[in-house]
Amino acid sequence: MHFNYLNPTEILFGRGQIASIATAIPTTSRVLVVYGGGSIKSNGVYQQVVDALEHHQWEEFSGVEPNPTKETLDKAVAIVKEHAIDMILAVGGGSVIDGCKYIAAAAKYDGDGWDILCGKHQVSEATPIGAILTLPATGSESNSGAVITKAETKDKLPFLSPFVQPRFAVMDPDVMKTLPDRQLTNGVVDAWMHVCEQYLTYNHGHMVQDGYAEVLLRNLKTLGEQFDQRDSDEWRANLMWTANQALNGLIGSGVPHDWATHMIGHELTALWHVDHARSLAIIQPSLLRNQIENKRGKLEQMGREVFNLTPSADLAERTIDAIEAFYHSLDVATVLVEHGDDKAAAIDSVIEQLTKHGMVALGETQAIDLESSREILRHAIA
Ligand code: NZQ
Ligand code: ZN
Repeated sequence: MHFNYLNPTEILFGRGQIASIATAIPTTSRVLVVYGGGSIKSNGVYQQVVDALEHHQWEEFSGVEPNPTKETLDKAVAIVKEHAIDMILAVGGGSVIDGCKYIAAAAKYDGDGWDILCGKHQVSEATPIGAILTLPATGSESNSGAVITKAETKDKLPFLSPFVQPRFAVMDPDVMKTLPDRQLTNGVVDAWMHVCEQYLTYNHGHMVQDGYAEVLLRNLKTLGEQFDQRDSDEWRANLMWTANQALNGLIGSGVPHDWATHMIGHELTALWHVDHARSLAIIQPSLLRNQIENKRGKLEQMGREVFNLTPSADLAERTIDAIEAFYHSLDVATVLVEHGDDKAAAIDSVIEQLTKHGMVALGETQAIDLESSREILRHAIA
């Protein structure tokens, strides 16, 4: 085990915490409040932000779309540069927070912000960010990652930089009250996938990371089974905290990572606008079956520790079936239909995108080459 671990984001968790941005952001700061399509206007979050920023100088930028695009975000980059903004406040889900990470980094760069996503520019500074989370799912509120889309070319690519990690994250579970069921389900599934990407690899015997991952998986399974209790404070708070812990860096420290499901899933979103979490549920069962020999040990452990399955020679196979049944119990599909009728053309276009993005050796041991991806897609696409 060999790792450095630091999570510098201050978590402000609980009812009423939005008010604490009044002191979390220095009154000397010039703030840009960034949000999405306006859900915060109808659920009272916007008004709480306005009240809390009473003594601040601030302006706003709205219209960050789900799966945020560079084209939209560049307009905010121009505002940050021209108006000497020195604090960006992201108010939304993963898309708004990721979008702010791009804005913050691109605002300190003279070239095209997309260079950050293609690796042409290494981020070395960024405008400080704070986040008010409205949708628990991605963990973006306290991690250093972001995923941005270039609509023009249908590219959806990730970048990581410690400079864009939020200084603070407000997590008030009350903001979830207006979330549609579809987004709540997406949150459960995305957080579950984040744990799987860091846990379902190969046996390494790191007890803390494995044990903590199993707690998070059991939580998410329980929250899925108790979906009819989603209007309770307890359910909301548990999902919000679990989803945060799933991707705040802790369970991923010092262990192998997979992320192949995410990389292939991103292409489904870029091509057919599949919700992020749903793109993962389409790819993962097929990917696990394709990679079963590489992952057998961990699948068996997950079967025992998360699904309480009895040992058998086909425990790994039964665990994958249980994972898939979990998605179905949440009414989340595990086969893609959004591409239309031409399955062969759909597979070719995903493979073409993966090739273009250099995603040619994915997974914890780089075992998923393009031929494996093609095989995975053959089962994942209707
Ligand atoms: O635009 P608004 O009005 O905010 O509406 C949003 C959006 O339509 C709505 N919503 C959010 N909070 C709400 C609400 N509606 C009612 N009440 C509320 N309280 O929900 C819709 C979806 O929001 P979005 O932010 O797109 O969802 P999510 O949080 O799932 O984020 C998905 C994005 O995050 C990226 C994904 O690729 C995708 O682009 N990811 C980021 C990661 C990271 N930074 O670490 C990791 C993830 O794996 C993921 O890739
Ligand atoms: Zn995800």
